[in-house]
Amino acid sequence: MNSNKKETTIVAFCCLYCAYAAADLAGSMRLQYPSNIRIVRTPCTGRLEVEYFLKAFENGADGVIIAGCEEGSCHFKEGNLVAKRRVNYARKLLAESGLEMERLRMVNVSAANARLLVDHLQKMAETIQKLGPSALNKAKRQNQQEIRS
Ligand code: FES
Repeated sequence: MNSNKKETTIVAFCCLYCAYAAADLAGSMRLQYPSNIRIVRTPCTGRLEVEYFLKAFENGADGVIIAGCEEGSCHFKEGNLVAKRRVNYARKLLAESGLEMERLRMVNVSAANARLLVDHLQKMAETIQKLGPSALNKAKRQNQQEIRS
């Protein structure tokens, strides 16, 4: 495991009906995804407000991935389309605040496509590994070291 991978944390908000079910299936199929990914079950990606994404970064995430149903298959009709717009908006806010917008992305998977979900999670982990810890976390760690010394 790369040292950046150990130092980084990725939060994956997965909708209950598709992405979370796919993550569950991945477990049954013994497919592996990077250990620095923390899956958070959510009823529908449309329930996620922009502040949830930003809070995740504020609370230590180096990357955030939103995984919802395929477009046209949201169990709440247009929740994933709402989420897509919010993610795009939040990516702009990240860029304005000096964080790379690649740290936040949205993907769509069906409940039966565990492999696709694992591919998305691995690609996200690779992206975050290349970027390293977020500037927010670097500053926090630096402050903690200064307090200890
Ligand atoms: Fe899955 Fe809405 S129920 S994204």
